[in-house]
Amino acid sequence: MVEVKRLPNGFEYLEVTNNIASAKIALQGAHIFSYKTDLENLWVSSIANYEDGKAIRGGIPICWPVFGKPVYSQLNQHGFARNRMWELVNSKEEDDMTILTLRLRDTRDEHFDYKCELNVTFNIGNELEIELTTKNLDSRAFKITQALHTYFAVSNISEISITGLENKPYFDQRDAAHKIQKSALTIDAEVDRIYQNTDNTITIHDSNKTTSITNLNSKSVIVWNPWIDKSLNMDDLNNEGYKNFICIESANALDDFVLLQSAKSHSLKIKIDFINIV
Ligand code: BG6
Repeated sequence: MVEVKRLPNGFEYLEVTNNIASAKIALQGAHIFSYKTDLENLWVSSIANYEDGKAIRGGIPICWPVFGKPVYSQLNQHGFARNRMWELVNSKEEDDMTILTLRLRDTRDEHFDYKCELNVTFNIGNELEIELTTKNLDSRAFKITQALHTYFAVSNISEISITGLENKPYFDQRDAAHKIQKSALTIDAEVDRIYQNTDNTITIHDSNKTTSITNLNSKSVIVWNPWIDKSLNMDDLNNEGYKNFICIESANALDDFVLLQSAKSHSLKIKIDFINIV
């Protein structure tokens, strides 16, 4: 079942239910902010904003047509797709799977003045699959960077480990230095890194769950957690909130930008498999 729901302030989202999973997707940003199988798999801040023009702190914001705040662009951090209204253009319902496609009609901006089509398809079932497709309808080529900025719910940030990034180079956004990841990643401080030349699969190991993330057409992965001091300055995150999420963002960033020629398309695709350990 797919229903359109509205919060008292008019904020609209799609509520999806099938035999296996349920999900909530805000029309602003095509932003999935709940995906439940047995348990909730995505993290959302308890004081997140659900209102026009503000991205929800949690779930999976879509960063497009830029990831971060690149020096070559005057666009806002993470672009405008996460703050604009998308519309549902296709849905297919089976007993164990719901497939929804949303489209951003308004893909132009004074700092990104190209004609293109931007679609995102969600496959909601035993796994969560997301495909973000940009098609160039302009006569000129253009460049994008982008990310599916997933906030994964974890039991305790200090106790997880992340594998699949070993021996990968990364750009540390905290001190603007290039480094190499030596072993499995554990987190005990603020982390804001753009891993480069990544392989397809990354795994989060938690006490009650193993999460496997498979990326297609993407060679960059951002790992972000604001830790204590940064959290204090964020008005949509409470002071303890950082303990229960890790952002692992499937991206095309830095040198892994996408140069899209006229009439060509590019799809950034992720498949996430959450396996609860009982
Ligand atoms: C990450 C960036 O992707 O997103 C961080 O690497 C940034 O630098 C974080 O702080 C959150 O960004 P925002 O715009 O959603 O607050």
